[in-house]
Amino acid sequence: MQEESHDNRKIIVGLDIGTTKICVVAAEVSDEDGEFRIIGVGKTKSEGLNRGVVTNIRSAVKSIRKAVEECELKSGIEIENIYAGIAGHHIVGLNKEGVVAVTGDTITESDIQRVVEAARATNSPDKEIIHTLTQEYIVDGQDGVIDPIGMAGKRLEAKVHLILGSVSSAANIVQCCNDANLNVLNIVLEPFASSLAVLDEQEKELGVVLLDIGGGTSDMVIYKNGSIVHTSVLPLGGNQVTNDIAIGLRTTKSEALRIKHDFGVAMIDHVEEGETISLKGIAGREDRVIDKRLLAEVIEARFREIFELISNEIKSTGFGPGCAAGVVITGGSSMMPSVVDVAEDVLKMPVRVGAPTDIEGLADMVESPEFSTAVGLIQYGTNADMEEITILKNTNNEKLLTSISQSFKRLVKNFFNLF
Ligand SMILES: Nc1ncnc2c1ncn2[C@@H]1O[C@H](COP(=O)(O)OP(=O)(O)OP(=O)(O)O)[C@@H](O)[C@H]1O
Ligand SMILES: [Mg+2]
Repeated sequence: MQEESHDNRKIIVGLDIGTTKICVVAAEVSDEDGEFRIIGVGKTKSEGLNRGVVTNIRSAVKSIRKAVEECELKSGIEIENIYAGIAGHHIVGLNKEGVVAVTGDTITESDIQRVVEAARATNSPDKEIIHTLTQEYIVDGQDGVIDPIGMAGKRLEAKVHLILGSVSSAANIVQCCNDANLNVLNIVLEPFASSLAVLDEQEKELGVVLLDIGGGTSDMVIYKNGSIVHTSVLPLGGNQVTNDIAIGLRTTKSEALRIKHDFGVAMIDHVEEGETISLKGIAGREDRVIDKRLLAEVIEARFREIFELISNEIKSTGFGPGCAAGVVITGGSSMMPSVVDVAEDVLKMPVRVGAPTDIEGLADMVESPEFSTAVGLIQYGTNADMEEITILKNTNNEKLLTSISQSFKRLVKNFFNLF
């Protein structure tokens, strides 16, 4: 089952379990054109998670429930099935290839299934495959084939991008959702979801780097010729910026967060000399007045470090020079003023901020970079057959269940019908 039905309404719900916030977005999908309309949003402070990994199941479940209830109240629906995001430093992206001999005269679904299975063969017992994203097929040496079914050929090759994650991290997310009375239809890599919400098809074709800079992690996916060719997650994000402000300006984390949001600028040169801000005194001490440039200096230093790590990562992939559409940054930290200028200065590529756009329904509530992942999860849900095979985890019986796309289900059915 791909989605819930409420009085014949097709509902899709995305659950983004972030380091700083948990948000739930519900959408109604039109039967006619597949377009969706946002009907509810719920957002709470995230508890029990660190850098995308569950650290306290009970706290995480409570936060999830709270966000779900808020969304239920706004939308007037009861939420059961969701698409959940996953991120964290345990995520690895791999480009793999598979080759098979075509069994008949023309290529069939069963050949596709075999070649994708061949490409999926990995040797990582503690990791499981979260996504299998087909880049292209090669038929008798001819590359760039998108849909080879029905084509004549003897040798079929598939190039895929596999996204692997730690078995226990994925299981913990499913556990949290199940404990919060939610059924996980699929787990989706967060930056992949974000990319679906903010990138343009042309950017994906030209080559683009998508960076989701959240609170705990900076997640990256690189697209080339319309497909993902690289995935990575760096354990750095806006929380480090907040910590640096607290340490650098000798204040509490909550005060550091307040001044970061209200007065933060990522480039010292963009702050006029002589501008000041008032800092609340700690434990009854007097308020202090500090130079706004001092705040910008701390923020700029950390963002430069984050972008330098990202720059090294892009260089190590070799895909940087091919990314003609540059870099799109999203996630809550992309809302920091002047962050684009620091990013361009370090990455030496054109940079823009990306957020969900052209949204129907409660658009004003989600057209912000912090909702890119949740809106992307809905987009994933509306096109749930975009992967050849999707793996669904279920911890109820401590076993991994394989949820397979319609075509594969048909294939399995046909296979068993032979006996
Ligand atoms: N207006 C703003 N200016 C600067 N930073 C902001 C602003 N609003 C939010 N942030 C920062 O964005 C970060 C949160 O981003 P986001 O909501 O995308 O993270 P998350 O999804 O909870 O975390 P992650 O994706 O890392 O698990 C926090 O560090 C927060 O301080
Ligand atoms: Mg996030």
